[in-house]
Amino acid sequence: MEKKEQLYEGKAKKVFATENPDYVIVSYKDDATAFNGLKKGTIAGKGVINNKMSNLLMQMLEKKGIKTHFVEEIDDRNTVVKKVEIVPLEVIIRNVAAGSFSKRYGVPEGTLFMSPTIEFSYKNDDLGDPLINDYHALALKLATVEEIETIKKMAFTVNEEMKSFFKEHLNVDLIDFKLEFGRFKGEIVLADEISPDTCRFWEAGSWDTTKHVSLDKDRFRRDLGGVEDAYQEIFKRLKGE
Ligand code: TMP
Repeated sequence: MEKKEQLYEGKAKKVFATENPDYVIVSYKDDATAFNGLKKGTIAGKGVINNKMSNLLMQMLEKKGIKTHFVEEIDDRNTVVKKVEIVPLEVIIRNVAAGSFSKRYGVPEGTLFMSPTIEFSYKNDDLGDPLINDYHALALKLATVEEIETIKKMAFTVNEEMKSFFKEHLNVDLIDFKLEFGRFKGEIVLADEISPDTCRFWEAGSWDTTKHVSLDKDRFRRDLGGVEDAYQEIFKRLKGE
């Protein structure tokens, strides 16, 4: 499948039309931003890793019964996906307190939850992706009651599958992550990406200490160093090397 005109350029990806109106090509860049674009940088090789990692995980999830936008990987940085209408919600699942949760509620990072939590942000850069609840999402007409129920169910299932997959195969604890969903032919499907940009991966067993080892974009956000190495390491483990 060939790229036609560029439809959109985001912070980490470009989207191109194809000859098939149902499909687009996503092209992953090495650009990295944090704090709603305030911090900018490049992570060499990130585009390749995020593309391939996201594709492997989406295929794993498809096998577990989760519908995704994945169609076909074209090359290192380019993938054909279903042309979805993105539901403008960032869906965040957390297993352990970290990041904005710890800051907002005054809970130390590394505090394990009794059960996973879910939260929504309104995907709107001008507003800084504000935290919202289900009722706000309905009031803003971002999704229907049924869609929100489906999204929640899918997000928790993705969490269970990913949590055990990462622990078993990569020796990594899945602390939290962000998902996005889209509408395709009347159905909700998992869209966007699942990568070190959108997940927190901590070296197994390090989550209950103050010295956890991050193998994700927090190394960039927090200037921890070893950013490229962390992306390479998690990808190496995913490939089973
Ligand atoms: P947070 O603790 O900063 O709210 O982040 C929760 C998770 O969501 C974390 O795994 C990183 C991911 N995330 C994104 O993918 N995009 C974003 O814009 C933000 C703020 C977080």
